Amino acid sequence: MTVFGTRPEGIKMAPIIKELENRDEIQNIVCITAQHRQMLDQVLDIFNIVPDYDLDIFKEGQSLISISRKVLAGLEEIITKESPDVLLVQGDTTTVFVAALAAFYKKVKIGHIEAGLRSGNIYSPYPEEANRKLTGVLAEYHFAPTENNRNNLIRENYPKEKIYVTGNTVIDALDYVIKKDYKFCNPLLNRLDYKNKKVILLTCHRRENIGEPMKNIFTAIKDIANENEDVEIVFPIHLNPHVRSIAYKIFNDHEKVHLIEPLEYEEFTNLMSKVYLVVTDSGGLQEEAPALGKPVLVVREETERPEGINAGTARLVGTDYKELYENLKILLSSKQEYENMAKTINPYGDGKSSKRIVDIIINSNK
Ligand code: UD1
Ligand code: UDP
Repeated sequence: MTVFGTRPEGIKMAPIIKELENRDEIQNIVCITAQHRQMLDQVLDIFNIVPDYDLDIFKEGQSLISISRKVLAGLEEIITKESPDVLLVQGDTTTVFVAALAAFYKKVKIGHIEAGLRSGNIYSPYPEEANRKLTGVLAEYHFAPTENNRNNLIRENYPKEKIYVTGNTVIDALDYVIKKDYKFCNPLLNRLDYKNKKVILLTCHRRENIGEPMKNIFTAIKDIANENEDVEIVFPIHLNPHVRSIAYKIFNDHEKVHLIEPLEYEEFTNLMSKVYLVVTDSGGLQEEAPALGKPVLVVREETERPEGINAGTARLVGTDYKELYENLKILLSSKQEYENMAKTINPYGDGKSSKRIVDIIINSNK
């Protein structure tokens, strides 16, 4: 059984679901919690996934406790009825941890995809760092994207034989959607002059950034847009109303800052492949941008994804105004600095992670 609930889990679980569907030995039951609604439905459409179960728990302004309560209650009946051999979760959201807890209570083996990421601070990202650690405690299979993730688990005394380095399925997902001569459905994205302008793609949604940090980030971006004639910003805003209200207040109909609705995954990744650089606090974008050769400034205090930083395509700039503003200025003015960062690297996977994960599950359940 595969269980997921949010946009990024859907994207990274999709290639696994496709792979499971291809194997005669497997019957896969797809269950979504719908912690996200519209943002998850977009992903289901792109990948043609029709869930067997939909807990439909989404509620505007939902709290962590209400998400947890509904996922736990909803899964009890389904896990009891279906009695799966293995339950797979992906990542670090509240859906992930609570689905793992439900499976553990029902003594179902848990496979944790994207295991072993650690920032070292349980309040950043919040609550994701705690969610992935708690899920790890319950899991039978730890599918670690990188050696570094594996080492984190070994440091926490997880048995080596239960850790598998598989790469990240985000790279498998990218292979489905990136197209050379992609034509956007969104007219603005077709209109933008990616050759003569420097288009910056911004996303920002983390709970710990809501408030002052987000105000700093957006103000630095606005100042950069004001001071550089050739810069345009595209910001597909997360549906979180707190994020939206800060964004609308600070950007306030700015003619060079395009605030748009969340994009479908195919539109979004093809946009990322065309822009000049990326500013983000997202986890997934830190993996996708290096794979697409785009410099990425990470607006967070910590990251669990040091691989992109070590490879030189990502920089952790924190959430103060100054560091972000200055890094943007450098990357907009110095060709050399830009070229040093704009290289295509793939520390997160080779596009075959889903196949590896499914092989491991089949071989260990023979
Ligand atoms: C969740 C995950 C986070 C992940 C993010 C991906 C948790 C605690 N957080 O955060 O790890 O990075 O998803 O985007 O699990 N909303 C909608 N429609 C949607 C989705 C969200 O309107 O389809 C709005 C709602 O007002 C909701 C708010 O966004 O209350 C926040 O959603 P929630 O799932 O609680 O947290 P995210 O910030 O999306
Ligand atoms: N994404 C998308 N449309 C958007 C913004 C992001 O499809 O408008 C995709 C992006 O390509 C990545 C994932 O959503 O795969 C990242 O999700 P998000 O930033 O919401 O969550 P995180 O990765 O931080 O958990």
